[in-house]
Amino acid sequence: MLEVLAGIGRNRRTGGYRRDAWSPAELELREWFRQEADARGLDRHEDRNGNLWAWWGDPDRKPGVVTGSHLDSVREGGAFDGPLGVVSAFHAVDVLRARGFTPSRPLGIVSFSDEEGARFGMPCVGSRLLTGILPPERARGLTGDDGVTLAEVMRAQGRDPAALGRDRETLARVGVFVELHIEQGRALTAPVGVAAAIWPHGRWRFDFHGTADHAGTTALADRDDPTLKYAQAVLAARGVAEKLGVLATFGKVMIQPNNANAIPSLVSAWLDARGADEDAVRRLVAELSEGQEVVCESWTPEVTFPAALRDRVAAIAGHPAPILPTGAGHDAGILASAGIPAAMVFVRNPTGVSHSPAEFAEPGDCAAGVTALAAVLADLCGEAP
Ligand code: GLV
Ligand code: MN
Ligand code: MN
Repeated sequence: MLEVLAGIGRNRRTGGYRRDAWSPAELELREWFRQEADARGLDRHEDRNGNLWAWWGDPDRKPGVVTGSHLDSVREGGAFDGPLGVVSAFHAVDVLRARGFTPSRPLGIVSFSDEEGARFGMPCVGSRLLTGILPPERARGLTGDDGVTLAEVMRAQGRDPAALGRDRETLARVGVFVELHIEQGRALTAPVGVAAAIWPHGRWRFDFHGTADHAGTTALADRDDPTLKYAQAVLAARGVAEKLGVLATFGKVMIQPNNANAIPSLVSAWLDARGADEDAVRRLVAELSEGQEVVCESWTPEVTFPAALRDRVAAIAGHPAPILPTGAGHDAGILASAGIPAAMVFVRNPTGVSHSPAEFAEPGDCAAGVTALAAVLADLCGEAP
């Protein structure tokens, strides 16, 4: 299945993926999901927040065991972040069926919409809307770099943005959620691990204003150049992050009007800040924000996955599987923060590289992930956690 997906949204020059939410590539992936569900005779539907579901058994009979992840990507992302979890979900169903297993609870597969927030800036839009963590009016107004809103994009795709928002019926079907995901650092040395917690993290937009002027006629002393303010902020972020023991990244920057021969009028730069200690992350942002024009675009508090479910999954997924925290955000964290029992299975990443075309997992480790996931699902389908 990963081979089938390999060409979708791929930049042939770099090998990286561009699978923005609701882009042609992501719509192709949605169609792939529908075909995989149909090929297995699963009942599928798209909820009003754009999340895709496929059910083995009737989810309105009793709350189900759900697994899955997302199909969108960061820009120039790898092949595994997201799709590995969805592919493994379908594969785990195949494994269970081949074994003659009949679930005593409905078993669901989900692909959450717009997990990365590459297009509209907000991560985990589908799961945040589903759980009510993201107000629908805020979601409708999320705007891409092209000035087009999420509401406009969804309407153009035949969806109804007025229907966005907390979805009790869909949520009630999720008794427990297990997300399989490639590990995104170097911390996992066994083939399979289990998540302990997700670090608090957020995104802030800094706007540095300046005065546009001619690059060839404006003396250095006369310039009001916003790129200098931006450069100082980048260096300060590194220094403060080192001092406080957290992570700070300016990964996205937009310069207006973006002429080679003019001093810019505006630099907008996005700070991604994360760390094990929420107070330290907040202190970093406060220190960097002093005297600056800053807007918080998203904030995700720390998530600790429920211990009993975590240990149960670890016991079944490994001997037992190592338990580790992560600095990467996930839909499983959003569901857990909304009170839904959730756990994560990680598949080893030999280089630790992610959000990059170089992201890689060994086929043998991916297979171990499927084996572990199938065992976890079989266990959870047998008995409520
Ligand atoms: C998700 O990939 C994140 O940015 O944490
Ligand atoms: Mn990601
Ligand atoms: Mn992901």
